[in-house]
Amino acid sequence: MKESEIKKKYNYKINELKNHNKLYFDKSTPKISDKEYDKIKREILDLENKFSFLKSSYSPSNSLGFTPSKNFIKSNHRVKMLSLSNAFNKDDLENFEKKIFNYLNKKVEIEYSVEPKIDGISASLTYKNGLLVLGTSRGDGTTGEEITENLKTIGDIPHQITNNDFPKDIDIRGEVFIKKSDFNNLKNDFANPRNAASGSLRQKNPKETKKIPLNFIAYTYGYFESDKIKKQSDFLSSLKKWGFNTSEHNKVIKTINDLETFHKKFEKDRFDLEYDVDGLVYKINSLELQRRLGFTANSPRWAIAHKFSADSAYSQIKDINIQVGRTGALTPVARIKPVNIGGVVVSNATLHNEDEIIRKDIRIGDTVKIERAGDVIPHVVLVDFKKRKKSSKKFVFPKKCPCGFETTKEFNKVTKKFDAVRRCPDRGFECEKMAVEKIKHFISKEALNIDGLGKKVVEKFWDLKLIRFPQDIFNLDYTQISKLEGWGDLSVSNLKFSIDQSKKVSLDKFLYSIGIRHIGIENAKLLAEYTKSISNFLNFIKNKKINEFLNIDGIGETQINSLKKFFENKSNYKIIEKLSFILDISDLKLNKNGKLLNNTFMFTGKLSNMSRAEAKSLIEENSGSVVSSVNKKLKYLIIGEKPTNRKVEQAKELGIKILSEKDWLNLLN
Ligand code: IVH
Repeated sequence: MKESEIKKKYNYKINELKNHNKLYFDKSTPKISDKEYDKIKREILDLENKFSFLKSSYSPSNSLGFTPSKNFIKSNHRVKMLSLSNAFNKDDLENFEKKIFNYLNKKVEIEYSVEPKIDGISASLTYKNGLLVLGTSRGDGTTGEEITENLKTIGDIPHQITNNDFPKDIDIRGEVFIKKSDFNNLKNDFANPRNAASGSLRQKNPKETKKIPLNFIAYTYGYFESDKIKKQSDFLSSLKKWGFNTSEHNKVIKTINDLETFHKKFEKDRFDLEYDVDGLVYKINSLELQRRLGFTANSPRWAIAHKFSADSAYSQIKDINIQVGRTGALTPVARIKPVNIGGVVVSNATLHNEDEIIRKDIRIGDTVKIERAGDVIPHVVLVDFKKRKKSSKKFVFPKKCPCGFETTKEFNKVTKKFDAVRRCPDRGFECEKMAVEKIKHFISKEALNIDGLGKKVVEKFWDLKLIRFPQDIFNLDYTQISKLEGWGDLSVSNLKFSIDQSKKVSLDKFLYSIGIRHIGIENAKLLAEYTKSISNFLNFIKNKKINEFLNIDGIGETQINSLKKFFENKSNYKIIEKLSFILDISDLKLNKNGKLLNNTFMFTGKLSNMSRAEAKSLIEENSGSVVSSVNKKLKYLIIGEKPTNRKVEQAKELGIKILSEKDWLNLLN
């Protein structure tokens, strides 16, 4: 081997080590075992022994290379710190309740714990035997940073709690914030109170944190075992008793109408509060109902944030462009004269779809009102017709996708109306606009999550024709990339490394990453649980058995039709097949400790106490699995109201145990 090649190999190993250190120390997400890690270290040392010209300050022979993260120590939350879904109006609230009733399979009377949504930084405090032993930031929701000493400088946070009824082991969660009056003195240093709180909390030196007056309001728990407290409102009262600050505006409200009334009033009064509030949080008050409802991928089913209305401003539309999304949706975007809305400069605003443009009669040159709320994309609310020039012309929405294909509006069988969104029909990767978006989705955080290959890089590689299909990512021309501006040896080898790392992917993430319309994270998980392996999944497709997915609770006509449409295009199948050879796609990791392990269940008929979705998650929480057809593998058939007789008979013939809903619940305890 030539010296240059040896050096190259050595540098690659060093980078590999660097990246693993980063994953381990900075992100707390090691991707290799200790054994594999040691192997890399050994390989580096072996090379150094053999070739004296090899040297790196990062080498394991140099202990300096091993100083862990310069940031805070990472710590995994015992219970994830999730976010909340948003509601902006009464429809959203009604929808939220409807979903709850569907999940529970019946209408129940709901009582809400209503709390101000404080706009600060959330923190988690672990108390063991009454002592504050750990304080963490939210981080990415799964892993936070240990900021115990900084949190301890906050006067509102008790270091020790001696009440007899204070749980022996509990994570108390709440919001760290800065009062508006205190922020006035810091105005020149930070953009808003939230940034000030965040900056102060993450000071390396807790003494610096102490300099900025921070406050803490407690509102929930993470890890906590108790059967004594039954309601969120009781938990809030207990928090107060234990010495925590709670909001004086917490309330219990029963109906959506009353929630609306309170929201309207609070929206006006909020300016008199000592701290910034960006909405109200409604939580189902019964902790038992909360437990039953559980979580979706990102947020609890039992809570919602009802946001206050957005900030707005007027500006002029300079142009209207059409953007094509991953699923082919044509979204018109108004390019506007830059305008400051609530502290953020906005120069683009979405016009949603063709129908919205027609309904609001939006034209190029119009002066329009633009709204912006939190992290939601700014949108055009109305046109100021008085300012419209006589010469203005109606905007003609293009009937063709920028790629040249004719677009269509789908007919919705349920509403008996044409869809408001115009789409480029999915022709696999033939529509270039869609193809780039599909690749961006493929590498995104919740999909393959490739560090160093962000959306901008994908666009650049696309323009350079380095990628056309997802599989091209694994066969990049690194020599060409290293010649590009801004791509040094280090960034190239980092990219290579992250791409390599991303090859290990779970089946659900992979199915999500393909970007089939209507197959989001939740549905991808359902398909993965059902098909178990990528080869099985491909067999279902190859043998035209997509309809069988209808047996999965949560997968309906919409998803089936979308899957069929997607796979009608043979190139889509081929791409997935190719990827399945390149990637190491693992099965879903299931809980293997529950009492229903190795037991298979099937339902027929309507359950009276819960929805199928809830029943299924109960079984899965206990390590059992739910199947969709009666065969020898089935152990129990659970019979609800009006069962399908054929299924019951088949089960009897095969000697499968038949349970009533009550028998089944008894089995579960
Ligand atoms: S409960 C699982 N209650 O809002 C949900 N959150 O988008 C746990 N927040 O990260 C959160 N006030 O920082 C909850 N009374 C309140 C809150 C609140 C503010 C923040 C919190 C959280 C975010 C959720």
